[in-house]
Amino acid sequence: MSTQPREQWSTRAGFLFAAIGSAVGLGNIWRFPAVAYEAGGGAFLLPYLIALLTAGIPLLILEYTIGRRYRASAPGSFRRMWRPAEALGWWQVAICFVIAAYYAVILAWAVRYVGFSVNLSWGDDPDGYFFNDFLRVGDEPGAITSFVPGVAWTLLAVWLVTLVVLWLGVRRGIEWCNRIFIPLLIVFFLVLVARALTLEGALDGLDAFFRPDWSALTDSSVWIAAYGQIFFSLSVGFGVMITYASYLKRKVDLSGSALAVSFSNCSFELLAGIGVFAVLGFMAAQSGVPVDEVVSEGIGLAFVAFPQIVSQMPAGAFFGVLFFASLVAAGLTSLISIVQVIVSAVQEHTGISRTRAVLIIGGALAVTSTGLFATDGGLYLLDAADHFINSYGVTLAALAVLIIVSWYLRKLPQQQAEADSSSSVRLGVWWRLCLGVITPAVLGWMMVDSLIGEFQ
Ligand code: PHE
Repeated sequence: MSTQPREQWSTRAGFLFAAIGSAVGLGNIWRFPAVAYEAGGGAFLLPYLIALLTAGIPLLILEYTIGRRYRASAPGSFRRMWRPAEALGWWQVAICFVIAAYYAVILAWAVRYVGFSVNLSWGDDPDGYFFNDFLRVGDEPGAITSFVPGVAWTLLAVWLVTLVVLWLGVRRGIEWCNRIFIPLLIVFFLVLVARALTLEGALDGLDAFFRPDWSALTDSSVWIAAYGQIFFSLSVGFGVMITYASYLKRKVDLSGSALAVSFSNCSFELLAGIGVFAVLGFMAAQSGVPVDEVVSEGIGLAFVAFPQIVSQMPAGAFFGVLFFASLVAAGLTSLISIVQVIVSAVQEHTGISRTRAVLIIGGALAVTSTGLFATDGGLYLLDAADHFINSYGVTLAALAVLIIVSWYLRKLPQQQAEADSSSSVRLGVWWRLCLGVITPAVLGWMMVDSLIGEFQ
C-alpha cells in the first residue's frame, strides 16, 4: 500500500460540494424522470421516498463513517475492517468501471446537444433526430456494427477533461471543479424549472407525475427500480462516499453532512422530475395525446422532450443551451467521483503514482466506453448495462455490506458511535433498525422476486 500522506479536502464545504457534485448528476436529470416515467409516473414516488428514508440516508451515513474511520479507498477500507471484505470493495470498483463507461457516453450526448441547441438542429422531429440521425440506432438490438463518429470524438474529449481533473488531485482537481460547477448548476436549473412551470399544459404533466397509482406498489420491479434509483442518485453502494469520506478531517459532522447531501440531491431530483413532466405536459397539450404516450422510450426523454419545447418557445436556443449545459455540469462532477473510486483503489493497492493510475485507468475506460457505446448498437447496450448494474449489481453490493457489517461483524454500534462523536444529530435505534433489519429484508426479497420475474 502507498505510504504517501493521504490527501484531504481543504474545508468541510469543499467536501460537501464534492459529495453533492457526485450525487447530483445525470441520474437526477436524465435517469430519474425516465425511470419514473417507465415505472408508471406517480406510482414511483412512494417507493422512492421509502427507499430514501430506510436505505439511502442510513447507508450514506454508514459509508461516511467507514471512509472516515478506515481512511482508505473502498477495497482498502473494507480490508481494514475485515480482510475478506476487501472483495466487496473490488466488486464496487468493478461496478464503477461499468457505470463510468456508459455514463461518459450520456455526458458526451449532452455536450453535443449544447451545440445542437444553438441551431435547433433537430428541426421538427427531435425523436427521429435523436434516435436515427444522431445515434444511428441500428436495427438489431445489441449489435455493434459501426462507430458514430460525432459521439466517439466527443466522448474522447469528455475523458480527457475528466482525467485532467483527477490528475490534479483531490483538492486542486476534484474540489476546485465542484466549487465552480455546482453553484452554476443550481442557478441554471432554477431558471429552467421556473420556465418549464409556466408552459401551457405543465399542470397536466405534474398531475401525471404526482398521481399515485397504488396498484404499482405490489409490483416488485417498481420497488427495485426505486431502490436502484436511490442508490444511483445518492451515489450510495458504489464505494464513492467511502472514498470521498476518506479524505475528511477527523472532526467533520458526518450525519449532518449526509442529511445535507441527501436533501440537496433529492430536492434537485424532484425539481428535475417536475421540470421534465411539466415539459411532457406541454408536449401532450400540443399534440393531443395523453402524457404517458408522448415519448417512445424513457431513455431518450431528456434528449427528446426538451428539444421539442426548445423549438417551440421564445428564446428556445437559450434555454436549450442552459439545459444541456446543466446536464454537462451535473454529469461531469459525478463522472469524476465514479472514476476516482477506481483510481484511488488501484493506486493504493499497487503503490503506483496518481499520474500512472489516472493514465492506465483512464486509457482503459476511454477505450472500453468508446468501443462499446459510441456505436450504433450502443444505446441498447447502455440501457441493458444500466438496468443490470443498478437493479442487481449495486443492490447486491449494498445487501452484502449490510449483512457483513450488521450481522457478521456486528459493527453498527461502533459505526454509530463514530458518527455520533462529531455530530449534533444523534443516530437513534432507527438507524440500526433500518440497516440491520428493514433494508436487508427488503433488498433480499426484491432481488429474489425480480430475478424470478426476469426469467419468466
Ligand atoms: N449519483 C450520480 C447521478 O445521480 C451517479 C453516480 C452513480 C455517481 C454512482 C457515483 C456513483 O448521476
